Amino acid sequence: MLATWLYVSTSTLGQNADDEIASIWSIARVRNPELGLTGVLLFSGLHFAQFLEGSDAELKRMKTSICRDKRHTGLLTLQTHPTEQRRYARWALAYAGRATAIDRVLSDALRGHDGRELLDYMDRFVADIC
Ligand SMILES: Cc1cc2nc3c(=O)[nH]c(=O)nc-3n(C[C@H](O)[C@H](O)[C@H](O)COP(=O)(O)O)c2cc1C
Repeated sequence: MLATWLYVSTSTLGQNADDEIASIWSIARVRNPELGLTGVLLFSGLHFAQFLEGSDAELKRMKTSICRDKRHTGLLTLQTHPTEQRRYARWALAYAGRATAIDRVLSDALRGHDGRELLDYMDRFVADIC
């Protein structure tokens, strides 16, 4: 059984956001495979949304790192459902750059505490970058 984690958060990044995210992404592309984690990161300029999946212990370690990261705040967990099968098995961390147009989806998830539309969006986003 695999653990999963879907959250949204508010960015604290300023003008250097794209550089910071490039740095997060380059760390994730090494560290996520080492920990057996796969997932997706979305960034709208104002908010982050991330889905991660892997073993319970390794996901907990990553949660600890991400939760104390000062590059975002107000982190809201939307889902932590256990699963048999990976959703994003091909991706250490799928990310396709800042996407301002999706801020409505991220803001709605933050307000409505509901991750369903967000996961559908992530599925479509990953299908597009395949
Ligand atoms: C929104 C966001 C998502 C992140 N996602 C990952 C990730 O998937 N993998 C990763 O290794 N680090 C990720 N990081 C960076 C970690 O928070 C942390 O800085 C990094 O893993 C180094 O861990 P450490 O501070 O415990 O040494 C993310 C940071 C932010 C702000």
